[in-house]
Amino acid sequence: MTLAVRYYSLSRNTKTIAQAIAKGANTTAISIMDEPELPEHVDLLFLGGAPYADIMSKHLREYAENIKPEMVSKVALLTTSNWSRRTVHALRKILTNRGIEVEEKYFYAHLLRIKAQIPAAEEFGKQHLETEK
Ligand SMILES: Cc1cc2nc3c(=O)[nH]c(=O)nc-3n(C[C@H](O)[C@H](O)[C@H](O)COP(=O)(O)O)c2cc1C
Repeated sequence: MTLAVRYYSLSRNTKTIAQAIAKGANTTAISIMDEPELPEHVDLLFLGGAPYADIMSKHLREYAENIKPEMVSKVALLTTSNWSRRTVHALRKILTNRGIEVEEKYFYAHLLRIKAQIPAAEEFGKQHLETEK
């Protein structure tokens, strides 16, 4: 069972949540800017980012558009924002259109509740680790 966490984050909010999910899932969170492609197949990929002026970063969009469906069995999404869940909806659309399964459940943290949401994010990662065992 392999799990991976990839994120795009400008001001560390999504990074903090991604790291907490990774801790719970017993893996490491890696920025898509540091590793533009998955090196090997993963059973579950946690993927996320935030909206900036209502749209996700083009880096994250391109990353999602270029994930090879044969490299990922399933994706679980995460996002942080002031109010919008748009990144999750847009990523879901890109990925499902390409034949990649995306979990219904995703992780959301408001920008003012990043620290407060760390335990819940860890739990989200842990639940998946246990489910996928
Ligand atoms: C330039 C800019 C534009 C933003 N636009 C939105 C927006 O349209 N909707 C929203 O809910 N949050 C918006 N936000 C809030 C960010 O999505 C939020 O701070 C997020 O947690 C940032 O994630 P990051 O720290 O991982 O980059 C914006 C923030 C910035 C800096």
